[in-house]
Order: sequence, then structure tokens, then C-alpha cells
Amino acid sequence: MERKLLVTLSVILFSSVAADDYVRPEPRQALQFPWKQKSTSQPEQVHISLAGDKHMRVSWVTNDKSSPSFVEYGTSPGKYSFLGQGESTSYSYIFYRSGKIHHAVIGPLEPDTVYYYRCGGGGPEFHLKTPPAQFPITFAVAGDLGQTGWTKSTLDHIDQCRYEVHLLPGDLSYADYMQHKWDTFGELVQPLASVRPWMVTQGNHEKENIPYLVDEFVSYNSRWKMPYAESGSNSNLYYSFEVAGVHVIMLGSYTDYDRYSDQYNWLKGDLSKVDRERTPWLIALFHVPWYNSNDAHQNEGDGMMAEMEPLLYASGVDIVFTGHVHAYERTKRVNNGKSDPCGPVHITIGDGGNREGLARKYKDPSPEWSVFREASFGHGELQMVNSTHAHWTWHRNDDDEPTKSDEVWLTSLVNSGCWTEKKWNENLRKILMEP
Ligand SMILES: *[C@@H]1O[C@H](CO)[C@@H](O)[C@H](O)[C@H]1NC(C)=O
Repeated sequence: MERKLLVTLSVILFSSVAADDYVRPEPRQALQFPWKQKSTSQPEQVHISLAGDKHMRVSWVTNDKSSPSFVEYGTSPGKYSFLGQGESTSYSYIFYRSGKIHHAVIGPLEPDTVYYYRCGGGGPEFHLKTPPAQFPITFAVAGDLGQTGWTKSTLDHIDQCRYEVHLLPGDLSYADYMQHKWDTFGELVQPLASVRPWMVTQGNHEKENIPYLVDEFVSYNSRWKMPYAESGSNSNLYYSFEVAGVHVIMLGSYTDYDRYSDQYNWLKGDLSKVDRERTPWLIALFHVPWYNSNDAHQNEGDGMMAEMEPLLYASGVDIVFTGHVHAYERTKRVNNGKSDPCGPVHITIGDGGNREGLARKYKDPSPEWSVFREASFGHGELQMVNSTHAHWTWHRNDDDEPTKSDEVWLTSLVNSGCWTEKKWNENLRKILMEP
């Protein structure tokens, strides 16, 4: 039984490696996580996420199964005037038993305010800052993180920048079936993810299913609960949220996306609720790129693109972030495979630093829609300055320094002339009316 399982596992692992036949440069060593003696009720792997208007979800893990799931919080250190009640879950994965995974929602919270909090009635005090209610707001963006020396360097650079919310287009821990690596990943990101909300969507490395034994996304869904219920979705694999004039849609590349699927129908409903007066910027994230001139993962996104691109185009999405390809690429505004002034800019940023290394080989010549491409580890910063202007920078960390390598001013489609309330309504209505 055990032997059979190992064979199954290695087949799954090797078949995914064999598909990547490009040469990647030196990955960095996986980080070592020394075993630390801790009390079993000590909260670990603390991270926060936005959970509907004025609310945040605090998530953490304890080894003590009787540890309670509430969060005490307030605006001065050590003074907890408020309490958020939560819930807990746990999961088994072959021989692995997870700790108790707690999720507690706190709020209503004031915008742009520091809160101090404590998980489960004990342990250390943490603090967080809520995002502002209005522009400007800055997002940090990095996908395909893993937990190597390069990941550490990316996280250090993000830590140095001023940002309000982290956006992650899939592939978090690279645990790849080794469940304790989800725990070490939780510890690795806690210094950042307990202070600023991390909004994530799934990648292929989150799947971790074993035929007949373990369902897809068991670990990911248990640990990284996102505001899907708050946004009218019935799956943690796709949801949306609004923050300071930006509507962000998180889609799932690894769940059904055809026009009869739950995801597609949820997306139609979500787009029909977007109010461009309230949220002039519309952003989407998912894992597998649709516009990708790297040799790696060519055409993998075609199926989803065929189904969903017309919907994103008709609703005037400004920017699409993806991961999966371990390199950076930025396009012109595009639609239907070519540049189009009324389509979104696509940015592939799957270069957070995982152990698989970089994807170096590109299509030659470069397609007309590709503006900038480079195979380096790094992170991005998206500052939404106001309702019409956003400043995007990409910082590579090849030399362990965050070097700004790509930079562009983006203007929102709302004020571009190609987007009008009338046209949008017409376009969208046409699609929404489709059976
Ligand atoms: C938005 O920001 C840009 C860039 O700083 C500036 O040029 C523009 O005037 C601002 N627009 C408004 C309406 O404030």
C-alpha cells in the first residue's frame, strides 16, 4: 500500500517535471526550518485576509486541539476592547494530521488604522494595518513563491516597500504533497502576512490530490480561506473583493470555467454588480497566463481564455495578473490574441522564487503584444494613485537588491474613451443574456 502510494506520487511528480523541457538556472536551496519547542496552544502561521466590507479574517494554527478560535483586538497595544468569534477546521493527509486551523473574522474596522490583536486568548501580540478607504492604495504582487533563498529575498523586498494588500496569483508553498511544508510556509510568511492582508488564488501546486485517496485543494482550502462566501461564491477557488476604489476578481484556473460552470455564472453575477463609480479600477488574477511568449506552459491557458476573455473584455477589466511561468512579462492592452486599446494589460509574475528555478526560453521573435519580458525573480508594486492613474513597477532581485527594472503608468479604461457606461452595459448585457 505504502509502496504503491510512493509510485503513484513519483509518477505524478515526475510527469509534471518532464513537461517543462526548458533550461532553468540555479534555483536556490530550500530554506531550513529548525525545530522550535513551543507550547501547543501557541498560535502559529498567523495570516490575515480581507473578509467583506470593513472586516478581516485572522487565520492561525495551534497544535492544541482545545485551543479556542477567537481573536481579541483593539487600537492600542495590550488593550483588547473587541472580540471576534471564529471557527476551526483540520484535515488528514495520509499519515499527516494538521493542527487545529482557526479562522476568526474581526470588524467592523476603521480604514487605514493599526489594530493590535491576539489569537486564542494567549501567545504574542500581533498588529495589522487596515487598507485605506480611498486612493491611493498600493498592492504588492508576487506569485509562485515557494520557500527557498530566493523566496526569502523576494519577501524581504516586499517587506521594505509600503503596501496595503498583497496579491498572489497562485502557487504558494510548493509543499507538493509534503504537508508539513505547508506549516513551514505559514511560518515563513507570517511576519508579512500577519501585518497586511494576503489575497491569494490557487495554482497547480495547491491541488495535491491523490486519486481515490485525497481530494483536490484540501490543504489549501483549509488553511487559506478567502472571502468567497462574502462575495457570493460557493467555492474558495474563486471570489472577489473591493478595496479603496478597486474591484479585484480572483479566478480559478484549476476549476471548471466553461459557460455552464458555477465559476462562470458566479463571474457573470459578480461583474454585473461592479459599479465603476465606486470602483473605477477592475483587476483580475488567476494562475495560468493567457498571453505568454515564454516557452514554458505555452497554450495551457487557451481553454479558459476562450471561455472567459469575452466576459472580461466586455466588462472593461484594466489589468490581469497571472503566475505559473517563472518569469516576468508585461503586455500592451490586448484582446483576442492581439493588441487592443480597450482590453486589459496582462502581467505574468510567477517569479517569486520557488525551487524549480526560472523559465528562460522565449519565443523569437517576440509577439507584437509583448512589451517587456525577463526571466528573473522579483516582485511587483501597483500603486493606484487615483481613479484614473496607476503606477506599476517590477523589481527584480537577481542581485539580492530590489532593482526596479520595468515601470509604466497605466490609465483606467473608465476614462479612456473606449469605455462608456452605455457601451459597457450593451456589451455585458449581451453576454449576461446568453444562456
Ligand atoms: C491622478 O494622478 C495623476 C498622476 O499623478 C495626475 O496627473 C492626475 O492629475 C490625477 N488626476 C486627478 C483627477 O487627480
